[in-house]
Amino acid sequence: MRYEVDFLVLGSGIAGLSFALKVAQHGKVCILTKDDASESSTKYAQGGIAAVMYSPDSYEKHIQDTLIAGAGLCDEKAVRITITESTERVKELIEWGTNFDKKSSGAFDLAREGGHSEFRILHHQDKTGYEIERALLESAKQHPNIIIKENQYAVDLITQHHLGEKVTRHLNGIECYGAYVLNQNDNSIDTYLAKITLLATGGNGNVYSTTTNPIVATGDGQAMVHRAKGKLANMEFVQFHPTSLYNPAEKPSFLITEAMRGAGGILKTIDGKTFMEKYDERKSLAPRDIVARAIDHEMKVRGEDHVFLDCRDIEKTEIINHFPNIYAKCLEIGVNITKDMIPVVPAAHYACGGIVVDENSHTTITNLYSSGECSCTGLHGANRLASNSLLEALVFSHRGAIDSTKKISQIKFKTEVPDWNAEGMVLNEEMVLISQSVKEIQQIMSNYVGIVRSELRLKRAFERLGLIYRETEELYNRSVLIPKLCELRNLIANCYLIIRMAKARKESVGLHYLVKY
Ligand code: FAD
Ligand code: SIN
Repeated sequence: MRYEVDFLVLGSGIAGLSFALKVAQHGKVCILTKDDASESSTKYAQGGIAAVMYSPDSYEKHIQDTLIAGAGLCDEKAVRITITESTERVKELIEWGTNFDKKSSGAFDLAREGGHSEFRILHHQDKTGYEIERALLESAKQHPNIIIKENQYAVDLITQHHLGEKVTRHLNGIECYGAYVLNQNDNSIDTYLAKITLLATGGNGNVYSTTTNPIVATGDGQAMVHRAKGKLANMEFVQFHPTSLYNPAEKPSFLITEAMRGAGGILKTIDGKTFMEKYDERKSLAPRDIVARAIDHEMKVRGEDHVFLDCRDIEKTEIINHFPNIYAKCLEIGVNITKDMIPVVPAAHYACGGIVVDENSHTTITNLYSSGECSCTGLHGANRLASNSLLEALVFSHRGAIDSTKKISQIKFKTEVPDWNAEGMVLNEEMVLISQSVKEIQQIMSNYVGIVRSELRLKRAFERLGLIYRETEELYNRSVLIPKLCELRNLIANCYLIIRMAKARKESVGLHYLVKY
């Protein structure tokens, strides 16, 4: 099938939905999403959204906290934009129906997380993302100009390349005309022509064996832009969350929000001793890169596979009211967090880098915008400050919406785009080839390109990845498309970009930590 839409939005998390709600007054919007509409990292966000709401907090304090966490590599302009627009964007989120917890006085019950000098995290218990996703989806579903199609897997962006023209990397002459999309309901590959395309496909946590990210987070948008010869940056800065629940049988890993440390939770080794004071004066509330590295170091030196988060000193009523989801989840595996310490390990959590965008969310490809975790605005630098990502998605989707609606009247559909050539063989044995390769790359990345890296480990990872890349391209070129194969290909592209950028960065900074051996 061929479709023509004014705004094509790929992804139905906070970035895609908030953009769609903004541009819908200016044209027809089609949101495509590869799973159920609600499935996204957004849905699982726990801690909340950082915003400056009241004094004694101030934009300047939040700006400084963000710059410090970013270890000198933030783009200060992007930081100032994001933080100074935070209050407005959060108010809009509330207008779209999101409920944040309040105190009995009526003021927002603001929480604190690592690296924040003030209490500034708006939250809905410990399931803030679920509440945001609910409100945005309900609003989008009611909008007459928005259509949401589920089980639609975006395979590739359409550019001059598909018209047979030769394009060279990063020339700024590349244009986006829409996307080829695999309709998983009937296995057809549809052509979506669009005047404006927004990539809001989220993170890439599944390049690692242990991640808090849902299975949809396979870096598809990043890989599509790489193939389309757009620019990506900062991919080496992969944030590991210090505290995911240690429960090896469970994938993805269940998050234990940093807000629990903000409320008084303390990290301890298995024999019950505190250790964070050896690493940073902010102890358990130091920025994430420091805490994750400290835990990794303690586990390696002691030969243990987890540490503990001790929340027993937090008031029971606070636990039940603020963290009911975590309380119930831990009880399920026999841990009563009011009496027992929680076993935790670091897990891959957030991609600080991604598709390079300007201050209006425009990528290096004409008429292609990007927002949310797949993009790189410069806000996070070498390490993201907790709870800044939901905010970034809102701010940059808003800016992308304003910019794209100004341009849309001058853009025409590229009707000469050909349909996808769907020839290929169906190979029944493909699934085991694919799932085995996914496991292999996850192990390579976890062992060689994780919290601690070295030149030797990066070189090894690169060489091992090369073999899997060649095998996968061969498989891809002779098979009909299935999402798992496309995802494998995209994961490999993400691994390649992470390793290449990690190899190029010769000094330790933020989340990129190098040892000599
Ligand atoms: P997502 O919400 O991940 O949405 C991506 C969408 O794209 C999904 O709908 C997906 O199905 C779709 N998609 C992907 N590929 C394709 C494709 N090829 N074709 C079609 N559709 C596709 N951040 C905070 O600020 N505060 C928090 O408290 C917080 N807690 C977190 C807790 C967890 C467990 C996790 C995993 C993350 C957390 N984060 C938090 C990070 C934050 O949730 C994410 O960065 C943010 O939600 C990303 O939003 P997004 O819209 O960019 O992507
Ligand atoms: C958390 O709740 O600890 C996650 C917050 C974030 O990733 O920003």
